[in-house]
Amino acid sequence: MSPEKPKKPGARGRAGDDRPIGVFDSGVGGLTVLSSIAELLPKENLMYLGDTARVPYGTKSAETINAYALETAEFFAARGVKAMVIACNTASAMALPMLRERFSMPILGVVEPGAAAAAKQTVNGRVGVIGTEATMASGAYPQALLSVNPEIEIFTRACPLFVPLAEEGWVDNDVARRVVARYLSSLKASGVDTLVLGCTHYPLLGEAIGRYLGENVDIIDSAAATARALRTALRRDGLLKPRGRGEASFFVTDVPDRFMRLGTRFYGESVSSAVRVVLRGAEGFAGNNVAG
Ligand code: DGL
Repeated sequence: MSPEKPKKPGARGRAGDDRPIGVFDSGVGGLTVLSSIAELLPKENLMYLGDTARVPYGTKSAETINAYALETAEFFAARGVKAMVIACNTASAMALPMLRERFSMPILGVVEPGAAAAAKQTVNGRVGVIGTEATMASGAYPQALLSVNPEIEIFTRACPLFVPLAEEGWVDNDVARRVVARYLSSLKASGVDTLVLGCTHYPLLGEAIGRYLGENVDIIDSAAATARALRTALRRDGLLKPRGRGEASFFVTDVPDRFMRLGTRFYGESVSSAVRVVLRGAEGFAGNNVAG
């Protein structure tokens, strides 16, 4: 018999499990993913952490993003979550393998589910992917798409201005429409029939993007695909919460006011309280409740 391996944090499974699921993003954008999870898994308790003090991640290096993601995962592990979702595309693209090495609980990113959904959807085999500069530079989406179907032709474009537009609420005005056209004209010309929204913020611009590309292009929102992948993983490991209505709690690393104000638009319902926390790497965290 092989010697028993030391258990990594989170290595605890049981049939039916009330522990929360940790959902992480660089800021407010991941609330689009949280919303999809809450809709599909309404019994689950959800714990959301937005790293609002350090957003954006999309312009930062892999080294920095990995360090931030590890601090967040340790925050969740210290709070006893049963699974984690890296709702941030940039952090998923960079940090997922490193996190899976260190924690044995199910950890899902948004890249693999989004890519798998796109690979399934495309008919002509031409798929577009848009996201932050860091996500595009990582090559994570092309890699995930090609691992499902090596024949797929992939066309990518970083669209950094979509993030501030979504946060400003300028999602379908003349400025938004011009930026959409400017970023997506080459993708449109390339004849893609499927486009992956590879950034938490982009679903808010989904209508303007869809209208510009036309009805022959299917838009894939990674959030819904990720929620389905999470349900599959929890079911497989006997971790689904069997009964009762779940609750969501919110944590941020900067003062919560802006997060709560913008949160409603991204989450689809009001975010009435958020707790500011200080991430302390391997030491865990210290929390101070400054809003409620
Ligand atoms: N959450 C990020 C993503 O999905 C967008 C915002 C940022 O750059 O941090 O890639």
